[in-house]
Amino acid sequence: MDSILIKGGRELHGDIPIAGAKNACLTLMPATLLSDEPLTLTNAPRLSDIATMTTLLRSLGAEVQGLQDGQVLALSSHNLVNHVAEYDIVRKMRASILVLGPMLARERHAVVSLPGGCAIGARPVDLHLQALEALGAELELRDGYVHAKAPGGLKGGIVEFPLVSVGATENALMAATLAKGTTELRNAAREPEIVDLAQCLRRMGAQIEGEGTETITIQGVDRLGGATHRVVTDRIELGTYMLAPAITGGEVTCLGGRIDLVGAFCEKLDAAGISVEETEKGLKVARRNGRVSAVDVTTEPFPGFPTDLQAQMMALLCTAEGRSVLEEKIFENRFMHAPELMRMGAKIDVHGGTATVTGVERLKGAPVMATDLRASVSLILAGLAAEGETMVNRVYHLDRGYERVEEKLGNLGARIERVAGI
Ligand code: UD1
Repeated sequence: MDSILIKGGRELHGDIPIAGAKNACLTLMPATLLSDEPLTLTNAPRLSDIATMTTLLRSLGAEVQGLQDGQVLALSSHNLVNHVAEYDIVRKMRASILVLGPMLARERHAVVSLPGGCAIGARPVDLHLQALEALGAELELRDGYVHAKAPGGLKGGIVEFPLVSVGATENALMAATLAKGTTELRNAAREPEIVDLAQCLRRMGAQIEGEGTETITIQGVDRLGGATHRVVTDRIELGTYMLAPAITGGEVTCLGGRIDLVGAFCEKLDAAGISVEETEKGLKVARRNGRVSAVDVTTEPFPGFPTDLQAQMMALLCTAEGRSVLEEKIFENRFMHAPELMRMGAKIDVHGGTATVTGVERLKGAPVMATDLRASVSLILAGLAAEGETMVNRVYHLDRGYERVEEKLGNLGARIERVAGI
């Protein structure tokens, strides 16, 4: 398995390109299952999670072609030959559950393996299933698989989510586009990826209103057509690279970045003493002067502070002046990066969903272990700021969510290289 070796302590300067959003792409790709006409996605990120979704869609009979070095995905589902999403593919990635809603809506039956647990928490799919049941699906859980059918087609209905779920909102939204009548999704997720999905579905002929608010209304149509859609900018990659000059010092412009994608995050950066300016090129980020200040952070559904930036923010706060309290409200076990950061000299106390970080003047390089996607990149950020060498081991998670990380950061002046595993 590959590792990333960093020699820390250098300021970063320059421009860094931000890719299309992994999480948006992972829900836009299954939208192909709703139509027998081609769907073309541009600005797709080149990541192993996208390759996993490609494998899954191909296993169902969809055609998926990566063009222009993978930045354009040409998808077509004119001939779905299989309706079973197998465990061996689904277990690799939780987002695989997103094929259930579209397949059920168009084909009226689908069998999808349960994704199972995941390192950052239990992450059940009950909300996905409840939403599809509210649209008339008949579901049975057998042998680790969801067996779903809707013999007369799905029917519009009211789906009231007891808690905000990005994936369940996406599954229900896609399913409702082909359901008979009107569907109302209440307490829906408002993430930019949901807005992006709704815009793509509308291009395919869906009738949707209210995306980006708590209530999304969908008027079902008989069929959807083809479309070409540009994947929205990845706000998590954006936030991650905004933290790079924040932690090392320097000035970096994240190309294509927009404040509306990272509003709550920018407020916390401002409080910590990091300046963010929206320019024509993107977001220009610089550390104002001296050490950053401690800030308290609570993760929340959008537009709140994203859980997917909590680990990276913690890396920054490890070097802040004062004590910061981070509260993780979305996932119950998302502080696995804390013990690794402590190996680098950070002072962190974790109690349940709360981590208290007492900033130290300087982190020290050390060998550390990447435990999940965002934890991996938080260790890279810490390594950029640390004195000496940091070896981040087991980085396969990183390749799920960040393309060419060492090249992108290297271009800003970081001393960072990939060390091939045996
Ligand atoms: C998506 C993102 C992930 C991000 C998360 C929260 C993708 C591919 N992944 O994950 O990067 O961290 O949103 O912003 O887009 N829950 C249930 N039952 C369900 C579904 C969810 O209890 O059926 C719980 C989860 O365990 C979690 C919370 O709801 O505690 C929010 O999860 P959800 O918004 O569904 O996250 P994902 O869509 O899996």
